[in-house]
Amino acid sequence: MTLSSQTTVADSRAGIGERAPLISLREVGKAHQTSGGASHVLRRITLDIAPGEFATIMGPSGAGKSTLLSILGMLDMDFTGEYFLRGQAVHALGAAQRRALAREHIGFVFQQYHLLDELTVAENLAVPLDYRGVPRSERAARVADILDRFSIVGKKDLYPRQLSGGQQQLVGIARAVIGNPSLILADEPTGNLHSAQARDIMELFARLNAGGTTIIQVTHSEENARYGGRTINLKDGWMV
Ligand SMILES: Nc1ncnc2c1ncn2[C@@H]1O[C@H](COP(=O)(O)OP(=O)(O)OP(=O)(O)O)[C@@H](O)[C@H]1O
Ligand SMILES: [Mg+2]
Repeated sequence: MTLSSQTTVADSRAGIGERAPLISLREVGKAHQTSGGASHVLRRITLDIAPGEFATIMGPSGAGKSTLLSILGMLDMDFTGEYFLRGQAVHALGAAQRRALAREHIGFVFQQYHLLDELTVAENLAVPLDYRGVPRSERAARVADILDRFSIVGKKDLYPRQLSGGQQQLVGIARAVIGNPSLILADEPTGNLHSAQARDIMELFARLNAGGTTIIQVTHSEENARYGGRTINLKDGWMV
């Protein structure tokens, strides 16, 4: 794919001398149909994220943070408005193209971990490498390396149900970073970790960001937010 060579709406908007945004959202909205009518979860979200940014999304429970992150991660395509990733019109993509784009660029840390129950820790970690076509011989070495870096070598043959919540969260983060994605979307990545582990994860994110990885995190923690450069506040689905 030659995404960077295309002339796009987002490129032309960025203007001369400015770097084209990695992400552009234009008037993004999301509503759920409920028995009482439409329930609006996101309203007119217009937002640019530059390549190499480390942004934080904050806001009260129910504000729409996970919903916004799911849209950014292309996990939820049922929204109104426009979403451009590297100038590519995500809102107009078919499911297969979208999946390919997400697998190539995005590492997602889920608030509820979402590990595959029937796979061991090591097998869960190998999934993104499989998607990216990393050769089998190299996969084992990369999994061993990340198990070591996350201090979870002893858990490699266990299944997710045999892990504590915090351990599952660590595996979920390891799975998001193992493929060296250019964009990491992390939903409350340290919500179940103790403070030293949380600091380790934030320092890992800071190092990855210094190396050029764009990061968008959702957090309730002011301490975690301080690792980021910009905070985006959501309330009742609005950017405030
Ligand atoms: N399927 C659904 N039908 C109706 N409303 C929904 C549905 N899914 C989510 N919502 C509503 O969308 C709103 C936003 O949810 P979301 O999970 O994005 O919040 P959040 O900001 O991530 O909260 P938290 O901090 O608790 O994780 C909530 O009010 C929730 O009830
Ligand atoms: Mg949430």
